[in-house]
Amino acid sequence: MFPIHRPRRLRTSSQLRRMVRETVLTTNDLIYPLFAVPGQAIAKEVKSMPGVYQLSVDKIVEEAKEVYDLGIPGIILFGIPEDKDADATGAWHDCGIVQKAATAVKEAVPDLVVIADTCLCEYTSHGHCGYLQVGDLSGRVLNDPTLELLKKTAVSQAKAGADIIAPSGMMDGFVQAIRVALDEAGYLDTPILSYAAKYASAYYGPFRDAAESTPQFGDRRTYQMDPGNAREALKEIALDIAEGADMLMVKPALAYMDVIWRVKEASNLPVAAYNVSGEYSMVKAAALNGWIDEERVVMETLTSFKRAGSDLILTYHAKDAARWLND
Ligand code: PBG
Ligand code: ZN
Repeated sequence: MFPIHRPRRLRTSSQLRRMVRETVLTTNDLIYPLFAVPGQAIAKEVKSMPGVYQLSVDKIVEEAKEVYDLGIPGIILFGIPEDKDADATGAWHDCGIVQKAATAVKEAVPDLVVIADTCLCEYTSHGHCGYLQVGDLSGRVLNDPTLELLKKTAVSQAKAGADIIAPSGMMDGFVQAIRVALDEAGYLDTPILSYAAKYASAYYGPFRDAAESTPQFGDRRTYQMDPGNAREALKEIALDIAEGADMLMVKPALAYMDVIWRVKEASNLPVAAYNVSGEYSMVKAAALNGWIDEERVVMETLTSFKRAGSDLILTYHAKDAARWLND
């Protein structure tokens, strides 16, 4: 008899397919990014990211309620400050925009997990992720002096109510520096979600419109990772684990599925994947042109991140995905 094995037997009905499905996406897996701006009643759509808005704190609170009601467990906050300067004051000031947003959200929706992205690029006048040597036009951020600002930033975010601190600047020693600073300030139980393997990627383009954080000169290649490297991701991960990271992130996601897989195999920590702005914008553009079925493409992609090993997915599709999952 030919053939004995007919794998199609298990695909004959949707009930059977459900029974043997290995990976199932749930709303628990999703984290929704939000961009906070100063002002009142502001909701300004980001040109390159249809459906994504810069929101004033009052609107962030409304959005947080909606996210919570959809069953999404957490948000990650980014901020666009009133003023930018060489010391990234807006990042670490107790009245900074992310601090205000975090406090307001925790007050209105206490059970929603608030993650604070900890970096300086939205707050520096030149758009780099830390201090530069005077006259440097290449963007070689000074590592150790920058850590001092990042420590202050992390502590003030925790003080404002952030439940999780997410260091994203790719500075050496970042995790250990903020772990010690958080502990000394009494935030022993505030976990660190480290952007451990973050690549220098063209996929961040639309985010930089949203966060107004495009470097004025140079690029981020002296601190973010080279796209050709996967073993180096394992080195970054090992260092962050040793420094006290509680969760690890790979970013971007789509072009780095192999890295997600390797990180999952190499550690026993929860792994997050950041489905970044450029990945979102490409799907939205194709969907708006009627070239792809948005729901099916999004659900397939998010499920695949999970299949590749991510426990959590940071995605601008989170609200849509939650609605589709809840339907
Ligand atoms: C800040 C930061 C960036 C993103 C998250 N945190 C951008 C960058 O490194 O320029 C990108 C997110 C996205 O593209 O959706 N360091
Ligand atoms: Zn940055």
